[in-house]
Amino acid sequence: MFPFQRTVILLFPLACLIISTSSRNTYKVIPIVTSVELRDNLKYLNSSATIHNTSTESKVDLAITVTRPLPDPWMNFVVWIDLASGTLQTPLQNTTFDFCEFLKNPGLHRIGQILHREVKRNGNIPNCPIGPGLYKFCGISTAAMRLPSFIPVASYIMHVFVGIGNEIVYDSRWHGSLKRVKCTSSMRC
Ligand SMILES: *[C@@H]1O[C@H](CO)[C@@H](O)[C@H](O)[C@H]1NC(C)=O
Ligand SMILES: *[C@@H]1O[C@H](CO)[C@@H](O)[C@H](O)[C@H]1NC(C)=O
Ligand SMILES: *[C@@H]1O[C@H](CO)[C@@H](O)[C@H](O)[C@H]1NC(C)=O
Repeated sequence: MFPFQRTVILLFPLACLIISTSSRNTYKVIPIVTSVELRDNLKYLNSSATIHNTSTESKVDLAITVTRPLPDPWMNFVVWIDLASGTLQTPLQNTTFDFCEFLKNPGLHRIGQILHREVKRNGNIPNCPIGPGLYKFCGISTAAMRLPSFIPVASYIMHVFVGIGNEIVYDSRWHGSLKRVKCTSSMRC
């Protein structure tokens, strides 16, 4: 009885380790952006976004001209994954949080942190209090984003809203699909 149990306990973690290491090294899940809709609240800002596609990723250029201060902004982040049913189900994620707290500590939000890291690398992400100015990000790379492995390979919709009080000041709706891409030696996997 005893030796048998000990064998099971030793083998199981070893098997898990081998599986997770090999799958991580062969494929990577990358979000491809197919379209984006922006609905600016012109009282506060105007924005633009351009998508450049390659076969293995999307690069996004994003610019936001803020024309008046944004006191105590909140962010609402909603993600739907459509598992080929054609109908969107309840969101996979729907969170609203203090935007300034998030900018200070992006780790508060798991997917937000992945996006924040890549956005920050490519431009001047604002500090709080957020004042008027041009915030510009060039070549945000979706291939550089390391998504959690629980995300299914399917189409997705992501809404990113920023609001003040009960007013939405920034409204962006991203559509796309997650793609499984074979890792090459030049890629971080
Ligand atoms: C990006 O590629 C997708 C297909 O992967 C296509 O549907 C979409 O129209 C492309 N978008 C742009 C802006 O090139
Ligand atoms: C916002 O509008 C101003 C004035 O029309 C323009 O100069 C600026 O480029 C726009 N900003 C963005 C990010 O498109
Ligand atoms: C997200 O949650 C809030 C309340 O927590 C709700 O009012 C809102 O409708 C939800 N959004 C979506 C898209 O389900």
